[in-house]
Amino acid sequence: MLAFTDKQLSFQHLIRKFVADEVIKVVPKMENGEFPKETLKVMGDAGLLGIPIPKVYGGQELDFISYTMTIHEISKVSPALGVILSVHTSVGTNPILRFGTDEQKQKYVTKLSRGIYLGAFALTEPNAGSDASSLKTNAEKQGNHYIVNGSKVFITNGGEADTYIMFAKTNSSLGSKGITAFIVEKNMVGFHVGKDEKKMGLHGSRTVQLHFENMKVPVSNRLGNEGEGFKIAMANLDAGRIGIAAQSLGIAEGALYEANKNIVFTEEKESILQQGKLADMETQVEAARLLVYRAAYLYQQGMKCTKQASMAKLFASQAAMNLTTEAIQLIGVGAVIQGNVVERLFRDAKVCEIYEGTSEIQRIVISKSL
Ligand code: CAA
Repeated sequence: MLAFTDKQLSFQHLIRKFVADEVIKVVPKMENGEFPKETLKVMGDAGLLGIPIPKVYGGQELDFISYTMTIHEISKVSPALGVILSVHTSVGTNPILRFGTDEQKQKYVTKLSRGIYLGAFALTEPNAGSDASSLKTNAEKQGNHYIVNGSKVFITNGGEADTYIMFAKTNSSLGSKGITAFIVEKNMVGFHVGKDEKKMGLHGSRTVQLHFENMKVPVSNRLGNEGEGFKIAMANLDAGRIGIAAQSLGIAEGALYEANKNIVFTEEKESILQQGKLADMETQVEAARLLVYRAAYLYQQGMKCTKQASMAKLFASQAAMNLTTEAIQLIGVGAVIQGNVVERLFRDAKVCEIYEGTSEIQRIVISKSL
């Protein structure tokens, strides 16, 4: 994929207008820690919470590239809103669309795609982050329900979300093949929201702990068969990683824009160095852009894209960190003052190298394909 179609370009125009009208104004509120409920309502009404979802389930039925583009454009201004959208769609809604029964799709996807529900993904545990298959949350079948006990950490959209794609062991002796996926609702008996994490960046995007105490999950809320959970998690992380790669690309471009706008060219010698740095930054952005949209294109075509998603996430998150660092260096001391856009983007960038699989995990995934 080397160029957008006319349809994708006109969608990009709409998204840029949405960013200018709705996103810019919510940034200060989010920076103060406010979760952007009203903006999400506007997004839901405009169909932006169900961009790649089929119309029959309430979505816009646009392609995955348009969805990726939306995260990218929003994240140039608000990476925190970008991750809310990415988690909601890629890993909060998509698993039900791909692995759910028609009844589950009717019950949940129709609401998630219109923003009536917000989605989240609950995989990570205190001792199972990178090594996701070593999770300890347990689900025991008793009649028509599973009884779930355990805890999850660093859950994006947690506390705000209505539904959680949650992973638990139904057979602890089978390793990754003993993991099962469930659709958990926030009002299920035994579901508790724990500590609200205070993060260095991405303010306004909520990250919480979850605790399940004898939580009763109906058998009808099991996603896929028993033992299929790990594959469901991994398969959806492909889409999730493209989303975070798009978020990272947005951050990198946002930083480059600010550097270019605010740079003060001094003496001739220094100016040549500064222009060289800007050229390197633009080159990194272009390379990240190609990787991100190439992965999105493969996903859209239904082709295997695990390696490409990991490469896009690895490279774009590094570009986000590099470019926010360089942008501060180019702008100078003003860029480290609280309230400066680049200061915020710098703080927002770091976690992109960590969540949805650290850079080290992306390298493992890429090297496995060699
Ligand atoms: N698609 C489909 N199936 C896949 C797959 C994929 N992309 N990747 C692996 N699988 C399958 C394998 O084929 C294998 O199945 P078989 O045994 O039948 O062959 C099975 O899953 C196990 O695969 P591995 O042996 O490769 O598994 P592993 O235990 O070695 O772990 C790992 C692999 C890549 C390290 C994995 O644990 C991992 O991705 N860890 C990182 C976890 C992560 O990304 N967490 C993100 C949390 S969500 C989040 O962060 C959201 C947010 O807040 C922004």
